[in-house]
This record gives sequence, structure tokens and C-alpha cells, in this order.
Amino acid sequence: MTKTDVTASIDALPNLDHSAPLLQVKDLHVEFRTRNGLAHAVNGVNLSLQAGESLAILGESGCGKSVTAQAIMGIIDSPPGYITQGEIFYRGVDLLKLPEAQRRKVRANKIAMIFQDALSALNPVFTVGFQLAELFRKHRGMSRQESRQRAIELLDLVKIPAAKQRINDYPHQFSGGMRQRVMIAMALALDPEVLVADEPTTALDVTVQAQIMALLAELQRERNMGLILITHDMGVVADVADRISVMYAGRVIEEAGVHDIYSTPAHPYTKALLQSIPRIDLKGQELHVIKGLPPALTDVPAGCSFNPRCGYVQDVCRADPPPPRYPVAPGRTSACHFWKEVKGDE
Ligand SMILES: Nc1ncnc2c1ncn2[C@@H]1O[C@H](COP(=O)(O)OP(=O)(O)OP(=O)(O)O)[C@@H](O)[C@H]1O
Ligand SMILES: [Mg+2]
Repeated sequence: MTKTDVTASIDALPNLDHSAPLLQVKDLHVEFRTRNGLAHAVNGVNLSLQAGESLAILGESGCGKSVTAQAIMGIIDSPPGYITQGEIFYRGVDLLKLPEAQRRKVRANKIAMIFQDALSALNPVFTVGFQLAELFRKHRGMSRQESRQRAIELLDLVKIPAAKQRINDYPHQFSGGMRQRVMIAMALALDPEVLVADEPTTALDVTVQAQIMALLAELQRERNMGLILITHDMGVVADVADRISVMYAGRVIEEAGVHDIYSTPAHPYTKALLQSIPRIDLKGQELHVIKGLPPALTDVPAGCSFNPRCGYVQDVCRADPPPPRYPVAPGRTSACHFWKEVKGDE
């Protein structure tokens, strides 16, 4: 298949609506049917991403961030995982309703993902150049020579020195930071419109983390991609994200612009997360710890799932249904009955 054939078949997708958000997740539910019971990993997630926008998904370990990403990418481990409800729109087309072949094509060409652990995501028995070039051969029908040239250009793009020589190296011959750059190169190979980065820097040391995040932010801006950045590190988020969706026990409990979240959090969980970041100006003071543990997803509490750990809790918080996401300000929501008190408006 030639390059134009592939592009044409993508453009021929039914009913692509270019005025719709780039990506929109509506009321997504994912459950895992395990021997220990039913785990409700994702319980009604709503997200929206525009072209050129950078959205961070933030939350404690186990709150459903990766499973949300896996649902978007169509790579949920099934069984035991199942999407039981919801829609995932790419430019107005529900990916979950598309025939499998078209769905796969959209994901391969338009939505790319970077994983936390580059070493296990790359194939150890092929050179990095081969793995990059294969993408162009398989999806763009390029010749060996042309695809090899594109592989070199990509390694240059992600600032790997001596790219021409390094394409002949195997993944284990790269340092952790360089491998993550290779992962970014692979993700960008087919010019995706959406990039999902799941904790792309947690395996790296702090200085390398900063370099990789800066590179990601730069490439995202240059290419006007929509970026979903998954992290549990509030420090990482501030420099890169435009908006933050905070997740707790499989739900988005607050969403706002980065500045608003940092200055006036409107959900007790977000506020507690912010208070648990070590601050140099408060050296010597005791660090705030969120009491208790996130709920087991096989046994999520009734009402607001944060209620057993919350300092603002009242009877209404323990009663079903869980709080809706209240509009706090334009483009800002909080799933807390008492968001005004939390934010300091009352
Ligand atoms: N393959 C699986 N089999 C069974 N349960 C799973 C599987 N993958 C995820 N889960 C369930 O989904 C929950 C959410 O997992 P997820 O990987 O999305 O968490 P996370 O927010 O990405 O956490 P972390 O910050 O540790 O990466 C887990 O606690 C687990 O109960
Ligand atoms: Mg994860």
C-alpha cells in the first residue's frame, strides 16, 4: 500500500467531525473480573482534549489512570478487563462502535502512547533503527532506504546524538533516558494527533526526567498534538499541562486549569494532594499526609468514595449517588458537595 492509499483510507473514516473535540471520553466504566471479585477500576470517567492542548491526569496509585489510557488505546487486558459502559470519541466518532479494522487503523495512525517502562516496550532482539523503520514500512508502505532515513530523522528529532550510527544499536545499548527518547520517537513516527504518555519519566532520575518532560512539551507544541500526561507527580504537571483532571477511585473528581488547581483547589482530595508536596519554604514543618488508604476497587464506599478520608465529610457524602461534578467556574468542575468551603468561597 502506498502512502496516499493509507492516508486516503484514514480520511475516509465515516462522519469525522473536525469541529468536535480531538478526543472525548464519556462516562467510561471498566471492570476487571478477577478471582478476588469484581474490581471497578474506572467508574464513569469523563475527559475532553482539544488539539494542541495538554491535559494531565493525576491521582494516587491504583486510581485507574493507566486503565483509562488503555481503554483509549484499545489495549485493555481482556479477560479479565471489560469496558462495560461509555464512549470514546475521536473527532466525534465513537471508537468503541467502529468495526475493528477501522478502529485499529485510527489508533495506529492518530493516537500514540508512550509507556513508563521503555525497556519492556521495545523489542530487545531488533535494533532501534529496525523497529522505527518497520513502522514506516508497515503503515506508510515506504522502501527500506526511505524508512531508514526517516528513522534517522526521528532520532535526530528527539535529540539523540549521532543518530546515524545509533540506529544500529539495540535497546539495551541505550541509557534509560535515551531509551525513553526512542520511545517518544516511535510514538511520533506516524504523526499522531493524540499522544498518551503514561508516567513517561518515573523510571528516570530527576535531571533526566526534567529533560524528557521538556522535550515532550516542546514536541507537543511544535506539532500541535493533544497530549494526555498521566502522572502522580504534581511537580511534573505544573510545567507541562494546561489542564488537570484529578482522579480518585476510578472517577475524575476535579478538573481545572493548572493555575486554578494550584491556587484554589475545589476538592478536598486535590487540596490534600497539594498539601502533601514537600515545600522548601516550609522546611521544618511537618509534611501533611492524607490519612487512610484509597479504597479497594472491589469495595468502593457508597456516596463520595473519598468520604472516609475527608475532613469536610457530612452525612450527604456517605449517601448514593456520588456527588455530581458541579461547575465551579467556566471550564472548572468539582465532584464535592462542599466545593465552596474547600475553595474558600464561603
Ligand atoms: N490486568 C489487570 N487485572 C486485574 N485488575 C487490574 C488489571 N489492571 C488493572 N487492574 C485494576 O485496576 C486498578 C487501577 O489500575 P491502574 O493501573 O489504572 O492504576 P494507576 O492509577 O495507573 O496506578 P499507578 O499510579 O500505580 O500506575 C488496579 O488497582 C487494579 O485493581
Ligand atoms: Mg499506572
